[in-house]
Amino acid sequence: MTLICSTASRSLAALLAVGVVLGLSAHARAQHPQHIRPVPPVPAWTPGELEISLSAIPRTQSILAGASTNVWSYTGFLVNGAPGSLVPVANSFLGPTIHVLRGQHVTINLSNQLGEPTVTHLHGLDVPASVDGHPSMAFPSGTTSTVSFPVLNRAGTYWYHPHPDMTTVEQVQMGLAGFFLVHDAEEARLNLPSGAFDVPVCIQDRTFDASNQFVFNPNMLNGFFGSTMLVNGVPNYVHQTSSRVHRLRLLNGSSSRIYKLAFSDGTPMVVIGNDGGLLAAPETKPYLMLSPGERAEIWADFRGRPVGTQIVLRSLPFSGAGTSQGVALDVLRFEIIQGVTENRTLPATLSAITPYRLQDAVNASTPKTYAINLITSGGMPSFTLNGGLFSMFDVAANEIARCGTLEVIRVTNTAGAMQIAHPIHFHGRQFQILDRTVTAAGLANWNTVKDGYNNSGWKDTFMIMPGETVRILLRHGSYPGLFLYHCHNLVHEDLGMMRNFRLDP
Ligand code: C2O
Ligand code: CU
Ligand code: CU
Repeated sequence: MTLICSTASRSLAALLAVGVVLGLSAHARAQHPQHIRPVPPVPAWTPGELEISLSAIPRTQSILAGASTNVWSYTGFLVNGAPGSLVPVANSFLGPTIHVLRGQHVTINLSNQLGEPTVTHLHGLDVPASVDGHPSMAFPSGTTSTVSFPVLNRAGTYWYHPHPDMTTVEQVQMGLAGFFLVHDAEEARLNLPSGAFDVPVCIQDRTFDASNQFVFNPNMLNGFFGSTMLVNGVPNYVHQTSSRVHRLRLLNGSSSRIYKLAFSDGTPMVVIGNDGGLLAAPETKPYLMLSPGERAEIWADFRGRPVGTQIVLRSLPFSGAGTSQGVALDVLRFEIIQGVTENRTLPATLSAITPYRLQDAVNASTPKTYAINLITSGGMPSFTLNGGLFSMFDVAANEIARCGTLEVIRVTNTAGAMQIAHPIHFHGRQFQILDRTVTAAGLANWNTVKDGYNNSGWKDTFMIMPGETVRILLRHGSYPGLFLYHCHNLVHEDLGMMRNFRLDP
């Protein structure tokens, strides 16, 4: 694997140099449906310490019929803690699903065996800067890095993935990612579907060459769009199940592709949670937008469906988000193979969420504004945030805040010669979306996605369309230091659409 050193020019050409190593030609493969039934065991909890050892290693995984695919994967074992804390994902390059309890103290030893530097980020978690996976913390192959932290977050669907400068997309495309699920007492009281009916669903796209190897061939500024959908690492994913209510934990683990999700048979899209856990109350949407990095939890009620029913979770068309975005496609299929009667009621109230108020922000009348723009540097166009490209320790005056303060931040997508949709992510803290506005020119495209935005509850990533301005209210965490905000289109992130922010005590 070619190592792009940190002095390499930040350009698509450099990214593509990696692509050449991953594989050369785009080649859609005939696919063979696979019938698998992932049944994660219910974790049995004991309080206290959890210690996990993970390795990031190259290995092979059978994904398509025929030759195995070379992948990079997190593999791990439990050093100390309840047996259900680390659950491998069957037939998958995905890393093990890590289950923790709020308040638990977690230690993760990560051994890097990739042949190039890496660092792992715990996406959505409120952890010290030294644990957050800043690219400056990337450590060499052949060494181990240990992080240790208390779980401050509420119950929710979080995830982990690499975060080295300029090689994040390559490492994620090779397979490095996993779920990190936090459980707590507030959630346990609701008695939501559990065990085999609590289903993590990681949605990704990949392209394979003629010998079944991953191809990384980003489409210029829009990013990477694979020709094959994978769910939990498996193509043509069929989830055989019974006619019950399911809690689906959807994660868009794709590098660039945005989904507009709906069920083929009209089963309502009842959203019960998002990036930072349960909503205050369920919300039924005509469809759900999920951009890279975002999560959503769905109450998928398949009761009353006769045996043999097929329900496809598909992505519907939408417009104006960029070339290759908005293509209709099927994500996975549920197949009802057993009829049961289940008494279960959707709770009217899920959790307590106090809305932040604009007037409580320390900068209520002077919002920080981070504009998305497009610049050309060294002949290569790149998207920028807040006027600049990522530089390892660079912090602008408007990227400094005090720990614990509530701020209002505006992100605008109204400048530049080319506007496309972006998933914008802030490290460190879950925030609230205050409002969204759109220009007259952006309105028609915005109308094809807006009813699927999940603007409630706690967020760490939001999608922003061309012409759109999003205001968020964010209460900074109590850990000082350097954190990141960036576009979670990983091609954009590696091209420099990422900035530091600094929290001072
Ligand atoms: Cu999921 Cu900074 O990323
Ligand atoms: Cu993150
Ligand atoms: Cu972007």
